[in-house]
Amino acid sequence: MSDLTTRDGASAPDHGHGHGNGDVPADDLARPLYEGPGALPAADIPHRPRRSDFDPKAARRAERQVAGLFLLSMLMVVLFVVAYIAIDPQADIYIPVFGEIGYMNFALGLTFGLGVFCIGAGAIQWAKKLMPDVEVVQERHSLASTPHEDVETAEQYERGKEESGFAQYKVIRRTLIAALALFPIPLVVMLRDLWTPTDSAAGLSPAEQLSTTAWVEGMPIVTDGTYVKIRPEDIPVGGLVSALPEDIEEIQKAEHNLNARGKAAIILVRMEPDEIRAQQGDGWDYQGILAYSKICTHVGCPIALYEHRTHHLLCPCHQSTFDLADAGNVIFGPAARRMPQLPIGVNEEGFLVAKAPFAEPIGPSFWERG
Ligand code: FES
Repeated sequence: MSDLTTRDGASAPDHGHGHGNGDVPADDLARPLYEGPGALPAADIPHRPRRSDFDPKAARRAERQVAGLFLLSMLMVVLFVVAYIAIDPQADIYIPVFGEIGYMNFALGLTFGLGVFCIGAGAIQWAKKLMPDVEVVQERHSLASTPHEDVETAEQYERGKEESGFAQYKVIRRTLIAALALFPIPLVVMLRDLWTPTDSAAGLSPAEQLSTTAWVEGMPIVTDGTYVKIRPEDIPVGGLVSALPEDIEEIQKAEHNLNARGKAAIILVRMEPDEIRAQQGDGWDYQGILAYSKICTHVGCPIALYEHRTHHLLCPCHQSTFDLADAGNVIFGPAARRMPQLPIGVNEEGFLVAKAPFAEPIGPSFWERG
């Protein structure tokens, strides 16, 4: 009898995952079933047959669905190759919500994603509708080794040490240890690339790209979505506006990705000036308007849940909470760093602008921050 049994006690098909009796050592069979903390009684769930179990038409329909999904996946792979060959890598396409994005990247992502999805969906459908549908109980033994296995393992270790000559050939042993100690050095040396400028538009190294954003001195602040320049009087006390640097669309087009937008997103909040208890720099607000990064310093979720009476900013992902009236400091949750503040003022036309770039990297912590 197999150690997999159906609820009525009959042997169940093993499908290659369990052991038949012939594979199980006698010691294992003699062990008692686990009955300690966390042991659960077998659930008593009535078996409900699927339609495809008793209706041949439903079974054939399910078969066609599965095969159709696999065929669709093949079609997507063909379209992927066609897109890769035929589409100009510099061409853009307008997608509602996302705006202008690289046409080739969009087509490759879509076809590859759908191809993988169809294989997964077909496999799930196959398992749900056509593979055997039986409830199975597998008896589990304690995972601890028997004393006999402990002794045997120790003997095998000693035998391996003896036969390899590891203890006998001292020179070989020492040179091997030295070689293994030096082995990680190439991996560390290659980290130098992080500080080597790449061919990207800005010519920044990967490390610099993590530490900088599109904000520079005098950069006008525009609303996210409509790209309209903002005057201080547009933001009421208690209000919050999601904003970006004015040139974000050009950067996006030049770089063919959303990296700059992801790093430069900010929120503007307004409070009475005497409610501001601390800032990250003297006079970094403009008449009670404060600008903070929108990217959570925990693992980078965008945040816009602002409670205007307490001035708390709450991240919806893991509930980190930042006090915007107190220099953006963390008052709750897993974030380890305050929310970076952007110094702002107004230009001669009366629009809000950045007075300087962010003074510290935005977003989640990384090695540069120490
Ligand atoms: S990403 Fe904000 S709390 Fe985790």
